[in-house]
Amino acid sequence: MSSDLILGIETSCDETATALYDSEKGLIAHKVFSQIELHRDYGGVVPELASRDHISKLLPMIDHLLKETNRTINDVNAIAYTAGPGLSGALLVGSVTANALAFSLGIPSIPVHHMEAHLLAPLLESERTKMPFVALLVSGGHTLLVYVKERGEYQLIGQTLDDAAGEAFDKASSLLGLGYPGGPAIAKMALSGNENDFEFPRPMMDPKDNLDFSFSGLKTSLLYTVNELKEQKALDEQCIADIANAYQEAIVDCLVEKSRRAVSQMDVSDIIIAGGVGANRRLRDEMNEVFEKIDVDVSYPSIEFCTDNAAMIALTGCFRYQDGIMNDNYEIKINPRWSIENIYASESLGG
Ligand code: KG4
Ligand code: ZN
Repeated sequence: MSSDLILGIETSCDETATALYDSEKGLIAHKVFSQIELHRDYGGVVPELASRDHISKLLPMIDHLLKETNRTINDVNAIAYTAGPGLSGALLVGSVTANALAFSLGIPSIPVHHMEAHLLAPLLESERTKMPFVALLVSGGHTLLVYVKERGEYQLIGQTLDDAAGEAFDKASSLLGLGYPGGPAIAKMALSGNENDFEFPRPMMDPKDNLDFSFSGLKTSLLYTVNELKEQKALDEQCIADIANAYQEAIVDCLVEKSRRAVSQMDVSDIIIAGGVGANRRLRDEMNEVFEKIDVDVSYPSIEFCTDNAAMIALTGCFRYQDGIMNDNYEIKINPRWSIENIYASESLGG
């Protein structure tokens, strides 16, 4: 049986990414262009700038990927693209490009759910078959706990009611003058901070709040602390490091406690942690410690597949292609708020 070659395209936020995935050989190559520098001065992603940059980078990146792997566009059997969730303008760039190329080649385009792709990313590195498992997806735009019964069957069991965990890091970093993206900046600063000099709330820890999160109160509490210290002219470098340490601890505690509850409620012995915040060292140490005690396996995709990339989109697209779930009328489909539940049940992108 001949293998299928899937071109993957990711443009949901501030990374333009491309990948080639072969159904037999696995990942052939992938490329990520991060727009961090473009958005740095604004302290966060500016949607209009993100879309414009995707437009200028995407086609040259596809061309480069094909040349580098000694392939041509005619070798591609289907084009998978992120159709949601994400920024609408940014998603449209991927969708229009994928559908226009697919139309010109007479091959199918495959709309892929960005969060399903994050869930399946560990399969890029190992043939993980141990399902069910719980996944904690923590990025700049999402904080979700998902019960993965089997591929395609996902139950959303917890989510943030306001800010995402990565957003909480980014906003705090901007408030403390540590720059963008905030997660790595806060984590670095926290290393030289003293523990216990500051205390921030751990919202939604009550049993009735079950598996949901809320990070906006934490951010407000930080704002009050910073304003007070500024008034007292006491916000020096050490103080910022102490705050970063305490703030990171509060976020990590919430993520770890809800993950522990999720694993116990769903009665699974595996959890995967993905998304940009999953790169946080303190989070990893704490997760490893807590889950080791209760014999639960914690795994993380390697950093390159943990943050946004197109390898996971091409992989998920390959599964969809083999399952026959494709868009063969070249309709420009996106859904910026596409839910992860019932994604295979409807043809209208979760509608
Ligand atoms: O998954 P991702 O690359 O992009 C999306 O948001 O989809 O995640 C980016 C987020 C940003 O909010 C960034 O501050 C956060 O992940 N992040 C971290 C770390 N590295 C990235 N947060 C905490 N600690 C880190 N080491
Ligand atoms: Zn993501």
